[in-house]
Amino acid sequence: MTCQGKVSINDTSGAEAGADMGAEVRAALAGDPPSLPCKYFYDDRGSRLFQEITRLPEYYQTRTEESVLERVADEVVAAVGARELVELGSGSGRKIRLLLDAMARAGHLERCVLFDINERDLEQSVRALGRDYPQARVRGVVGDFTQGFAGVGPGGGRIAALFGGTIGNLHPRDVPAFLARVADLLEEGDGFLVGIDLVKDKRVLEAAYNDAAGVTARFNRNILQVMNDRLGADFDPSAFDHVAFYDEQNAWIEMRLRARRAQGVRIPGAGVDLRLAPGDEIRTEISCKYSRASLEAKLPGTGLRLGQWHADQANRFALALLVRDPEARR
Ligand code: SAH
Ligand code: TRP
Repeated sequence: MTCQGKVSINDTSGAEAGADMGAEVRAALAGDPPSLPCKYFYDDRGSRLFQEITRLPEYYQTRTEESVLERVADEVVAAVGARELVELGSGSGRKIRLLLDAMARAGHLERCVLFDINERDLEQSVRALGRDYPQARVRGVVGDFTQGFAGVGPGGGRIAALFGGTIGNLHPRDVPAFLARVADLLEEGDGFLVGIDLVKDKRVLEAAYNDAAGVTARFNRNILQVMNDRLGADFDPSAFDHVAFYDEQNAWIEMRLRARRAQGVRIPGAGVDLRLAPGDEIRTEISCKYSRASLEAKLPGTGLRLGQWHADQANRFALALLVRDPEARR
């Protein structure tokens, strides 16, 4: 824990991540389909590439979410009476400022906690927010939100937020347990504001993950570079094609890397030797698309109920305010 005035960073990732990246990668590659855990996209280069993605013409998600948030931030803050904001997967975070501004306008911005797996990004954001919101105590917690939220502490007058459609990167079967863990961060009446990419025309969805400039392809391949850097693997990223398609059955975009030729890859840190035939694929990410109904179907038993639903006019992207309600837990 480093502490500088009212800004601090707390690293729980080693303790929490189950820490054995090698074992995790090994298990993922042994799965059906073989996959890599998507949280490894976000090293410093990956985080920069993701920021580039958010500015692409095809990637409507970020712009749409920001415009909805701009419109509804005051209403959301008023419903919760929030004094503290906790952002999960904060990245470099411009969106959070829209909420902090609304809390400041309401006159009760006291605390802000950023939670992310990428320490560098987190540190920069914590510093910048500490500077720009001098009335708030700003804290950063490094951790893996699929494992838990050690270091965040108890709620009360809290809004938790997860933007970017990031909830779609969880497998749908894991969403209820994830929501229940978020609910544990909240007191009765506290809120969880979730950005949801909505089911829509397949062409629009597929374009957002197959941009003409090839940034998403570079982002996708970067996960192989992360394996090289952290596990001593010898992936040749240029020997893989970026593949992204919409699976209508599962209502998710699936991202894969497809071997362009036969190749062997050693991953010493995971104790794996891969033999790939031309066309063999590794799944790197899913990005689920929801509707209001399919999101609501995830809520029973989680301790959260749907409080507000705000979509843009074209119904591309929504912000759902889920409210902590002890009655809503079995
Ligand atoms: N909130 C931003 C960034 C979204 S990208 C936006 O809406 O544009 C996803 C963010 O979540 C990245 O900052 C990444 O580092 C973080 N992240 C991804 N998986 C994570 C995990 N398992 N635990 C914690 N943070 C994670
Ligand atoms: N949360 C983002 C999404 O699902 C992450 C993302 C955008 C992403 N583009 C990507 C992940 C490309 C992997 C590859 O939209």
